[in-house]
Amino acid sequence: MHWASASAVVFPALLALCAGQQQQPLSEVGHSGSSASTSQHAGAVDAPSYRDKLLELLEALVSTPSSNGEENEVGQYLVDYLEQEGYQVDIQFVPPPKDHPNVKDRFNVLAWNGARKSNYKTLVTSHIDVVPPHIPWEIEGGEISKHTIIRGRGTTDAKGSVATQILAVNQLLSTNKHVNPEDIILLFVVGEETTGDGMKSFSDSLKNMSPPLTFESAIFGEPTENKLACGHKGALFCSVVAKGKDAHSGYPELGKSANELMIRAMNKIYDADLGSSPLFGNTTFNVGRFDGGVAANVIPARAFVDVAARVAVGSEKDGQKVVQKKISDILNEVDDKAFTLDCTHGYGPYECNCDVPGFEPIVVNYGTDIPNLDADYVRYLYGPGSILVAHGDHEYITVGDLEKAVEDYQKLILYALNQ
Ligand SMILES: *[C@@H]1O[C@H](CO)[C@@H](O)[C@H](O)[C@H]1NC(C)=O
Ligand SMILES: [Zn+2]
Repeated sequence: MHWASASAVVFPALLALCAGQQQQPLSEVGHSGSSASTSQHAGAVDAPSYRDKLLELLEALVSTPSSNGEENEVGQYLVDYLEQEGYQVDIQFVPPPKDHPNVKDRFNVLAWNGARKSNYKTLVTSHIDVVPPHIPWEIEGGEISKHTIIRGRGTTDAKGSVATQILAVNQLLSTNKHVNPEDIILLFVVGEETTGDGMKSFSDSLKNMSPPLTFESAIFGEPTENKLACGHKGALFCSVVAKGKDAHSGYPELGKSANELMIRAMNKIYDADLGSSPLFGNTTFNVGRFDGGVAANVIPARAFVDVAARVAVGSEKDGQKVVQKKISDILNEVDDKAFTLDCTHGYGPYECNCDVPGFEPIVVNYGTDIPNLDADYVRYLYGPGSILVAHGDHEYITVGDLEKAVEDYQKLILYALNQ
């Protein structure tokens, strides 16, 4: 992967279209949202000056499908948008996912003000991919207020963060003369919802970038209910195979049931203490996929499961190994020959700085790109919306949550800049 100046590569048509003219909100090309009513009610008593602009940006992002591998179009939109806002923009190509080899080029987007420096105070980052399926943008009818609900894929995870981060930086730079625009750099990555390949590519490239790129702190945008996360749990992903011996179900003593072994082992793991800590609570366990055997009247010779644990113990780099050892021990207790445990990836719990005045703390149980950004920096994790609706059919956010995030990101960036 390599960096390319966005204005020189790839999108001449797109850039020509937009050069020197006002951003056209995508709502004008027939999405269900109503920018007409947005403008009509911009003067509503509780509306900040940037409400229209924020909703137009979020609508454009949410209306552009961008599940894993399909991030090309939303990336192009963002490049165009940021350039119009006066940023310098680079893109970083990321190879297609293994299971989608033929997609259009997908890329991370990096944006800054002025000449590219080596040392930034703060990196502001989130991800532009979403989980499938696409859910169109839909804004509640009537007068827009802080209570207005917006539905659609990515409203919460994490296009709400992307839009509010951009608006927050713009707002901060236009209202606070003490902030040096050249201290802040923005990064929007692909692939967070699957392998983290976008952030890993960025992280790997830090070493060979020219000029080099360092930052003292990074603010990650993920749904934290507008609270400041003190950390997130780690994770461990494994497959378990049980091997038995087939036989007629009338003569179980002649066989060895792989399903029975698997059921007993998984039951034991569910009941076990997989480790806990005061900050992160209990490690939890999920059998996400369960399969085995061939028919009701056959003692099954083979069973397999895909499991995930949310890790609450141990160090950042090694917490998952603590949990893997406990799972392995339980499998051995149940049967010391039947099981194969294959853990594909994992990491321990990650702490973040939540000691910032004016923020309510939270601890979250989901993974983020923080483990994929391997550098020396102070972490912050904050975003609008709740993880409890992310990834579901009813993903939504409120206008009030978004606007609080624009305000909070400004506070957080200011705090990080002044450290
Ligand atoms: C954590 O696990 C213990 C048992 O190991 C249980 O008593 C406790 O309720 C659990 N805590 C939570 C928050 O689920
Ligand atoms: Zn996310």
